[in-house]
Amino acid sequence: MTIHIGAKAEDIAETVLLPGDPYRAKWAAETFLDDVRLVNEVRGMLGFTGTWKGNPVTIHGSGMGMPSLSIYVNELIKDYNAQTLIRIGSCGGMQNSVKVRDVILAMTSSTLSTPSRGIFKELQYAPCADWSLLSAAADAAKGKGIETHVGGIYSSDVFYDERPDLNEQMVRHGILGVEMEAAELYTLAARYGRRALAVLTVSDHLLTGEALPSEDRERSFGDMVEIALEAAFPQ
Ligand code: HPA
Repeated sequence: MTIHIGAKAEDIAETVLLPGDPYRAKWAAETFLDDVRLVNEVRGMLGFTGTWKGNPVTIHGSGMGMPSLSIYVNELIKDYNAQTLIRIGSCGGMQNSVKVRDVILAMTSSTLSTPSRGIFKELQYAPCADWSLLSAAADAAKGKGIETHVGGIYSSDVFYDERPDLNEQMVRHGILGVEMEAAELYTLAARYGRRALAVLTVSDHLLTGEALPSEDRERSFGDMVEIALEAAFPQ
């Protein structure tokens, strides 16, 4: 047990999928895993452990934003020894070549600030994904015929953004999409020698204003869960 996770040490698998929304964690676990059990519900942040093709997997909510994700990922790594951590979430598209429903695999994540910012001082650290997960996820997405983009994303601290100039610079520098968690996930994974990746569906678009209809969100989310599982356990 930790401050924010009520699970026993043996209740958390080495492979952890991290949706932002705890109810998405519940849906994904019940839909894709066998022998599922609830392992955490502290503060309503649900975590479930089961198996996928015989491999133990935990699916645990991260909450929204890097401070929330940082709490869970610190505890999952340091107290539960999680080795492979894959965020599954949504993002806003930032290039015309990126369409709503497409999948983005975040190779790197730029950010103004993370909860880890204080340790880097004037250094601009470049958080990046684990290559083995990234290439396996690209293969898995290709196998499903999903339009997939691999490149840099932007982890913002705010959803309701008052700095459109920052978005403009991100667009200008080829950033594919904006979300709020990946940069801290990658930084923590690097610090502790773990593997991390963010698999993101484009749920809305900053340039076109288009948004994914709610009936499509579940299917897109399911595709991401499958990509993440196949990346964690390549055949
Ligand atoms: N901004 C930040 N996070 C997001 C967005 C966005 O536009 N869309 C989905 N997650």
